[in-house]
Amino acid sequence: MISGQSPGNSGAPLQQEIEARGLEIFVQIKEANRGGFADQLMDWSMCNEALKTNLFRFVDVLPALNSSAEIARHAQEYLGGAAGGLPPLVRWGVHLGPKIPWLVAFASRKGVAQLGKRFILARNGVEAIPALRKMRRQPLGFTMDILGETAVSELEARQYQTRYLELIDGLAREAVNWPLVEQIDCDDRGEIPRVNVSVKLSALYSQAHPADPETAIERISARLRPIMLAASKRGVFINFDMESTALKEVTFEVFKRLLDEPELRSYPHAGIALQAYLRDSARDLDELLDWAAARNRRITVRLIKGAYWDYETVLARQRGWPLPVFQSKAETDANYEKLARRMLENQEAVHCAFATHNVRSAAACIAHVEKLGLPRQSIEFQMLHGMAEPVKLALTNMGYRVRDYCPVGDALTGMSYLVRRLLENTSNEGFLRAAFNEHVPPSTLLRDPTEVEP
Ligand code: 2OP
Repeated sequence: MISGQSPGNSGAPLQQEIEARGLEIFVQIKEANRGGFADQLMDWSMCNEALKTNLFRFVDVLPALNSSAEIARHAQEYLGGAAGGLPPLVRWGVHLGPKIPWLVAFASRKGVAQLGKRFILARNGVEAIPALRKMRRQPLGFTMDILGETAVSELEARQYQTRYLELIDGLAREAVNWPLVEQIDCDDRGEIPRVNVSVKLSALYSQAHPADPETAIERISARLRPIMLAASKRGVFINFDMESTALKEVTFEVFKRLLDEPELRSYPHAGIALQAYLRDSARDLDELLDWAAARNRRITVRLIKGAYWDYETVLARQRGWPLPVFQSKAETDANYEKLARRMLENQEAVHCAFATHNVRSAAACIAHVEKLGLPRQSIEFQMLHGMAEPVKLALTNMGYRVRDYCPVGDALTGMSYLVRRLLENTSNEGFLRAAFNEHVPPSTLLRDPTEVEP
């Protein structure tokens, strides 16, 4: 076991310690592997803000288009006006569209499939197994997510449930044969599940209505209960993902109520995501901590920043609602560090999973771990499959447990997931852009977010 406390000069001022840890990560970071269509597309769309939106709209609508002619027409409509600014291959495609629609359709679908390969681990759990074995040798843990969200019919929602039950069963059977890898299979208190699964509640129920949360809670619980029971029987970890705020309260309620049921009351391997971009997140965390403390139990909280910023912002503006999200990235980053600290101070109630690709945020978590004198294995880092590989490697080399968030499924069902990843990768304010594409110096990247001008 990688034993003992992290080194660290716990007497140093926090900012100094964060910079030291951040630099350590940067030193470990190797040049990211570049090349390939997905990267080119992203590099290009980074310098074309206006076009980016149209390109993503096109990618988003693609699965709904039935014929080559339709695809060609949409390509022309979304991208045609911008001919000059397009990369040569895409320009050529848009231009030829009306004449050779099948070629445009083929190229578009191929482009999306390539994007899919980057961010999606495999088509299903069984096909993912060789890749999981390879990751474990790195060593990199995993949490698996079945692509699909916002079920459109009850049939679809039931199928999703079945696929989860099969996934839990299949992976649990396979994992019995996996040799123990201490860095990813143990925390500071002992062994943790090797199979870790993430679920999105919107995929389990198609009729959720904001005016009737009770029905949604009931129906979603009914679908999730068998999944949770199968997981507890098999010793599989289940994490509840967080989606848009419309479903946030329902998600918290389902989580708490299911875990209060007699059969799950002592089940220790359950977690929930907390979105630091939400203005209410500190209060939500306190409620979770109180809930867990009152039951003398421990839950995992996966601290994330949140992937629905554009959606939340547009929706709130349209409806004239108060914005649920912080407006600046710096406010979210600062809140992330504050929540991380609060979680770390409450180890008895929460097992900390820090999901971030941001070196400053990761360094801040490490600095807090050291200041509090906690062992390295008491926390874990989580990052998305296909993103920030050098950061994963650096943290692993520093002795931390890193878990890859691995979606399985096909690129077409995962379209909104892919579009979120593209937006994240190309976001103007995106940290990775700064780190890997613009060569901003580490001292700037590691700046205290509370000192960044909004
Ligand atoms: C998303 O689906 C990873 O849950 C996160 O964007």
